[in-house]
Amino acid sequence: MEYLIGIDVGTTGTKTILIDKNGKLIASALEEYPLSTPKPKWAEQDPIDWWRATVNSISKVIKDSKVKADDIKGLGLSGQMHGLVLIDKDHEVLRPAILWCDVRTTEQCLYITETVGRDLLVESTCNPALEGFTAPKLIWVRDNEPDIYDKIYKMMLPKDYVRFRLTGEIASEMSDAAGTILFDVRNRKWSQEVLDKLGVSMDIMPPCYESIDVCGKITPKVAEMTGLKVGTPVVGGGADNACTAVGNGIVVTGRTSASIGTSGTMLTPTDTPEVDPSLRAHTFCHCVPNKWYIMGVMLQAGGAFRWFRDTLAEKEVEQAKQAGIDPYEILTKSASQADAGCEGLIFLPYLIGERTPHGDANAKGVFFGLTLRHKKEHIIRAVMEGVTYGMRDSLEIIKALGLNTGQIRATGGGARSTFWRQMQADIYKSEVVTINIAEGPAFGAAILAGVGANVYPSIEEATDQLVEITSTTQPIEANIKVYDEYFGIYRSLYPALKPEFDKVSETVAKFS
Ligand code: XUL
Repeated sequence: MEYLIGIDVGTTGTKTILIDKNGKLIASALEEYPLSTPKPKWAEQDPIDWWRATVNSISKVIKDSKVKADDIKGLGLSGQMHGLVLIDKDHEVLRPAILWCDVRTTEQCLYITETVGRDLLVESTCNPALEGFTAPKLIWVRDNEPDIYDKIYKMMLPKDYVRFRLTGEIASEMSDAAGTILFDVRNRKWSQEVLDKLGVSMDIMPPCYESIDVCGKITPKVAEMTGLKVGTPVVGGGADNACTAVGNGIVVTGRTSASIGTSGTMLTPTDTPEVDPSLRAHTFCHCVPNKWYIMGVMLQAGGAFRWFRDTLAEKEVEQAKQAGIDPYEILTKSASQADAGCEGLIFLPYLIGERTPHGDANAKGVFFGLTLRHKKEHIIRAVMEGVTYGMRDSLEIIKALGLNTGQIRATGGGARSTFWRQMQADIYKSEVVTINIAEGPAFGAAILAGVGANVYPSIEEATDQLVEITSTTQPIEANIKVYDEYFGIYRSLYPALKPEFDKVSETVAKFS
């Protein structure tokens, strides 16, 4: 039997899976690491933590599975998008990585928009300058840490740093490069024009491949550390959202993935790059050669639910511990006791600003409409509904472009509970299906490895063979009506509160 490895360098941890060529999960390992927020709006991680977690999780899956290293035909990498990793000429990491959810770079976004010009930016990169993307982070380092900037040998994305450590090769691929906004998304190459305008040297950019191209081989040192075979091919891999889409079979038009992980993404593949004229959704290269996708991104979707668990659900976490179950089970059960619409309690999930649809680093989380009648179950349900309304915002943007969103495949933590799936079907006003694969981006990365290593003929054929629908949830007419009305109010809250969000951000900055 032939086997494949998929690795996802995520925000909470690195997950490695080993599957056989029929898609059966043979072993899986997750190693977590911290995220540091040394200042408001900052989010950083140490790339060495990713590396350590990668080595440990590969070693563990090889050991647990007892699969012979010879039979592992390829390895694919997926990772959190947009993170800035800088290395010097001795290949040492120059500073902690600045992550996708770091929103310190508002000033640099304005600079990029002015310097490159909105038209060229959109024409070439297909996207606006947003705090989460990589280019503003690079310019922030140039503005604030010039000594570090001067030492940069290469700029990398999170999974590409791990690739470098696994193979010794400095390389990236289209789907992740697209999220830097230094990349010509239409022509799938670094944008010389944008780099020139920003005064950033092309020399610091890694060579860029397609996701299925083999662009490195496991080194003898890594083979010794992990149990892999020397020379095992490592493919380009992809951005976590693109890999999730691959793992869910979202590789052709007429399918949409609704992923509620830490972030929330609504993603539809396209045959040509489609740009939202208001630039609320992102347009990136897909892992499938000559395909793109449009995607709305919420910064805190499952992350908002986790925030609730960690800050306001001590009792439920303790109960879950006693019962040996997942705290989310208790929280979801409690939420199901409140009615749809939570008697007017609405949650805005903008806990670290928001990308889609507002592109506003100052947006804040809000509970709106609290009354004496509201109990904890309403508050929990309001968090889940608020996140799902945010996902619908993205869906509406994609639909307004006239694209065929087709079948919605729910994935991530939000797809696990029947209750949240029903809520998604009701709020999206669409059938929502789940599939047999629960391994997220790591599974997509393993498929890419399989195509690169000639285990599968193509991504499309591999997913047709491996991905099956396992559940279908239809929307409930009565709930659609309730949610439609509350969604209207949800949408009106951000514009009404926008001036206050700005004022509170200024005030926080003044006193911190
Ligand atoms: C997408 C984005 C997030 C990260 C999470 O643009 O920033 O979904 O990829 O890992």
